[in-house]
Amino acid sequence: MTSRRDFLKTSAGVGVGAAVGLGSAEPLRGAPAVRRSVVSPVAVASGNGLEAVATAVRNVSEGGDTLDAVVQGVNIVERDPGDSSVGFGGLPNLDGVVQLDSSVMHGPSRGAGAVACLEGIKTPSRVAVDVMRYTDHVLLVGEGAQRFAVSMGHQLEDLLTERSRRRWIEWRARMSSSDDYLTPEESGLRAPPFEDGDDYGLSLLDSHDGVRPLGTINCNVINADGDLSGVTTTSGLSYKIPGRVGDSPIVGAGLYVDNDVGACGSTGRGEAVIKTCGSHSVVELMRGGMSPTDACLEALRRIVTFTTEDRLRNAEGRPSFNVNYYAINKNGEYGGAAIYSGGRYAVCSDGETRHDDLAYLFERRG
Ligand code: GLY
Repeated sequence: MTSRRDFLKTSAGVGVGAAVGLGSAEPLRGAPAVRRSVVSPVAVASGNGLEAVATAVRNVSEGGDTLDAVVQGVNIVERDPGDSSVGFGGLPNLDGVVQLDSSVMHGPSRGAGAVACLEGIKTPSRVAVDVMRYTDHVLLVGEGAQRFAVSMGHQLEDLLTERSRRRWIEWRARMSSSDDYLTPEESGLRAPPFEDGDDYGLSLLDSHDGVRPLGTINCNVINADGDLSGVTTTSGLSYKIPGRVGDSPIVGAGLYVDNDVGACGSTGRGEAVIKTCGSHSVVELMRGGMSPTDACLEALRRIVTFTTEDRLRNAEGRPSFNVNYYAINKNGEYGGAAIYSGGRYAVCSDGETRHDDLAYLFERRG
């Protein structure tokens, strides 16, 4: 596998060189016997999380809480109307309504919070934090989650952008050739692409080969004390059946953090991750001694085994979808893996924010 590393120099690596091993120097008489600083801060995220990992490492290096650090990181993407897989501008469900899922886990306090099918709030990860901090519950869904969010001061907003609405209108028109919605070809009307070349996803929809955009952001961080936190947030599967919940807000599936062991999160087909308790599996495999990358690969093998449905397998009998895991262990070692080759994940460590290649089970063909 050719290694590709895109380096983006940032100011995020404040903690570089902070690695101080226990017993690396003879303690001075009268000095504290145990140094708390055991690792250099590291953050990993899905490929769309370059700014997120830089933000997370910068925040923990300045002494910020690990959960606040990763949530501030993913908030950048949640608020970005240009990312159609998360938060504001995320692609909507079948009815044209954006429904968001998110979960958070705070390693030091063993806290967890989540929301699912949340409508009208740009930053579901912040609502998940409020569920964790201000309720006795872990998961709130739908209308109840929204009412809770409003009660906590979150702003209700229209999450559809002109781009995401146009994409959904196109999708709806192409759903059936016998309904009353006209495709651009049938109507003879087609909006020109946006100035930046975005064609509303028409190139994808034109093929109408069943490919549906699915994106998410997961971000995990470890600070110099070895404390971990993680967050996963998404608009889920585009054009999903209203009410569908993916893996992102399911603790143990789209995210899991055990402050004694490590943190993991996922992106990709949520149903496969839920069925295999994906992120929890990765953390348990790391507890058993596997490296983060090997643990991710082993959890992906379980997904392959669990994929028995013909409709979900390609001609080679392999999954016709992809799943990605991103993990950090208690020592600050990190890795990521996918079912298929070609993916990258975002890393901030040792003064660099960059994309690293994901390990993988199978070469992607075609
Ligand atoms: N992994 C995101 C989802 O399936 O909704």
